[in-house]
Amino acid sequence: MNMKSAVKPLTERQTWKVLEAHYQKVRDLHLRKLFADDPTRGERMTVDAVGLYLDYSKNRVTDETLKLLVQLAEECGLRGRIDAMFRGEKINITENRAVLHVALRAPKEASIVVDGENVVPQVHAVLDKMADFSNRVRSGAWKGYTGKRIRNVINVGIGGSDLGPVMAYEALKHYSDRSMTFRFVSNVDGTDFAEAVHDLDPAETLFIISSKTFTTLETMTNARTARDWLLAGLGGDEKAVAKHFVAVSTNASEVAKFGIDTANMFGFWDWVGGRYSMDSAIGLSTMIAIGPDNFRAMLDGFHQMDEHFRTTPFERNLPVLMGLLAVWYNDFFGAATVAVLPYEQYLKRFPAYLQQLTMESNGKHVTLDGSKVPCDTSPVYWGEPGTNGQHSFYQLIHQGTRLIPCDFIAFYQTLNPLGRHHDILLANVFAQAEALAFGKHRASQGGGHAGLARAHRVFEGNRPSNTFWPSGLLRNLGKLVALTSTASLHRRFGTSTRSTSGVSS
Ligand code: F6P
Repeated sequence: MNMKSAVKPLTERQTWKVLEAHYQKVRDLHLRKLFADDPTRGERMTVDAVGLYLDYSKNRVTDETLKLLVQLAEECGLRGRIDAMFRGEKINITENRAVLHVALRAPKEASIVVDGENVVPQVHAVLDKMADFSNRVRSGAWKGYTGKRIRNVINVGIGGSDLGPVMAYEALKHYSDRSMTFRFVSNVDGTDFAEAVHDLDPAETLFIISSKTFTTLETMTNARTARDWLLAGLGGDEKAVAKHFVAVSTNASEVAKFGIDTANMFGFWDWVGGRYSMDSAIGLSTMIAIGPDNFRAMLDGFHQMDEHFRTTPFERNLPVLMGLLAVWYNDFFGAATVAVLPYEQYLKRFPAYLQQLTMESNGKHVTLDGSKVPCDTSPVYWGEPGTNGQHSFYQLIHQGTRLIPCDFIAFYQTLNPLGRHHDILLANVFAQAEALAFGKHRASQGGGHAGLARAHRVFEGNRPSNTFWPSGLLRNLGKLVALTSTASLHRRFGTSTRSTSGVSS
């Protein structure tokens, strides 16, 4: 497919114009009315797929809106772009690369061909090498320079070589080896490194230098400081480096130049974008933490979502629906941000991870053919876990003048049942979604101080939200990441802004 000639500005498409007229008709419809007019809405506007339940009924959409948005995706040729991505076509046109993070979680028997070669066996060879190494570190078979076993693992990386590993470690901590310490150094600010190692014994510490390019200033500065710290602590013998440093990279010659034995290098490929790399060898720290079997279970979750995305009709397709809703709010309602609100402490770094995923993908002001994007690019993604956010910024979401669509993530079951904690947590997520949609305290007619106080307590409602109900973290983390990365990737289909994000380019 020739992406360059296929692009027509989104705003000039027939369905876009119909959507503009439709928006004028529905923009003031209140969610209270939408629910009152259709008592089945709360059940109808849900998708239950691959162990992930999405309630999207509290969006400011009608059936007609959704029909038109799906039509827009079809008119833009989204189906063809999905197929091109999965076929391994070089849809990243500015770098002439395939965009194949989906190959990282494809099962052994799959075949995805890039430049005439099936890349799936290479992916599994690296996974097997990672598993072997992880098992040796976890069991104590891999010894440090002095013969002590490794108890501390520090991932040194930044951007996609840090945010995914940190997020996944925090999210899957429940499954991690609690006798080991995992830390993550990213910032070139020396404080980051100093604090990460201040209580650690170099003899028990392994550094994973994670960098796709192995040239990134912050990572290489931290890696050199790590080597100095290690050698200073172990008597200065350069041979110690081989026992305490491994690399994850696509750049073997830079790895060798740094002094890391390339036998201890875990590779990946130029068709993996940095921000999509947490399930490649960049996830080595995750695998050491949770073990190879759990890592593969996580990958299986990713793959299930990929298959759902590849095969499900758009109107039931979770990433497509999320992408289309993002377009609806961003480009029609002019909503500049989206709040991501996990009611799950283990997902505390998920919003930070999503920031890179979405904003590094959709931030550019030009389309596939280099012309100016005719509408707004990505909204700003941000968020905090509930219920902390409720005591911080929710007032503005409920009562402010800006429209801030919210994405809640909540789990029916907790990994840490403690008294009534989980019931209270879930009661809060239900109550927040309801209060945002339907409001609270009608505006007072009365005057005086009591009237004023009541006016200040008004929640007008009509604030949209989605709620995801995944059925467990281990497999569903991969699904959530695959879903959100794909939704963001396809958000700008047709106009897209980020050349390296492939299909969205
Ligand atoms: O800042 C841009 C970026 O290239 C990100 O896309 C990437 O995740 C990060 O820097 C780190 O790059 P590397 O893995 O090559 O060190």
